[in-house]
Amino acid sequence: MAERILTGIKPTGQLTLGNYIGVLKNLKETTSRGESFIFIADLHALTLPIEPEVLRQNSINLACIYLAAGMNREKAVLFLQSEVSAHAELNAIMQNYLYMGELSRMTQFKDKSAKMKENAIGLGLFAYPVLMACDIVLYNATTIPVGEDQIQHVELTRDLVKRFNNRYGDLLQMPKYEVRKVGARIMSLSDPTVKMSKSDPKGDIFLLDDLAVVRKKIMSAVTDMGCEVKYDEENKPGISNLLTIYAALKGVSIEEAEKTFEGSRYGDFKKAVADVACEELGAFQERYHYFLDNKIYEEVLREGAKKANEESQKVLKKVKQAVGLLTVN
Ligand code: TYM
Repeated sequence: MAERILTGIKPTGQLTLGNYIGVLKNLKETTSRGESFIFIADLHALTLPIEPEVLRQNSINLACIYLAAGMNREKAVLFLQSEVSAHAELNAIMQNYLYMGELSRMTQFKDKSAKMKENAIGLGLFAYPVLMACDIVLYNATTIPVGEDQIQHVELTRDLVKRFNNRYGDLLQMPKYEVRKVGARIMSLSDPTVKMSKSDPKGDIFLLDDLAVVRKKIMSAVTDMGCEVKYDEENKPGISNLLTIYAALKGVSIEEAEKTFEGSRYGDFKKAVADVACEELGAFQERYHYFLDNKIYEEVLREGAKKANEESQKVLKKVKQAVGLLTVN
């Protein structure tokens, strides 16, 4: 089967440089390799409390972000998850084929629920990977470009596919994840031992941050003892993270980046990282505003929902029949 690419992002909070480097920077290339399904995971956004207006606006922003990232509009279908009802329908079926034990071992669930009171943890947060597996199998996706934190969820999807196919015949496509060699896990600038997520305004660079703010955040990023610009995750997590950001944005290897900064002082190195980030994000923001101001996302999403609905019905029908649901028309 030809390669089919699928990925999604939750429209929660502001997207970060981590999201950008992990998935978006490569989107032009990944969506040019084959037929692609790219979506706004708005049902997933409901797994933690969010204001309705904020969610709606975030979804528009995310559509423009995908477009600004250079998604191949000839080959990729862009849609809102909630506009394609097959996701929720398949979820109702597949929740019976993944088990409580498996779901409670998911790191993301453990992290997110750790600080919550038990009676405030929604069932949706727990069952999140079931819906994510449905997102993937509905489109016969072969390749799932993600950051490192989503690998476990794709692995679980593979377990589901194996289990389901064993029982009902070779029906679902086996997917595999694809992570970037450099930049699969961008760390926080204020604490380089934790992942850059959408929740720490000091340690995160937001894609839509003013460029002066981007520069300031990079210049005040936490660095390490010593003065050598060298990649050493254990002893120099701050410098290693900045080297990763530089290398990923420039499209060079870590070794090449290290060579460029041999003998440089931390301050000069940070300035070079800030220059690259501002250049990249400046151009990105211009494209973003073009798609937003001209409301180009509306037609793209409408068309995308139509195609995604058509496509996803094929797998949904097969699954319904396989598990024994009776159809009368
Ligand atoms: P989300 O919205 O948390 O993140 C979107 C994508 O960005 C990657 N990412 C990072 N990559 C590198 N460094 C970081 N610091 C960093 N932070 C985030 C994530 O790994 C992700 O690829 N569950 C998904 C959304 C989803 C999905 C899917 C993805 C729903 N269904 C089906 C793929 C296929 C999520 O919450 O991503």
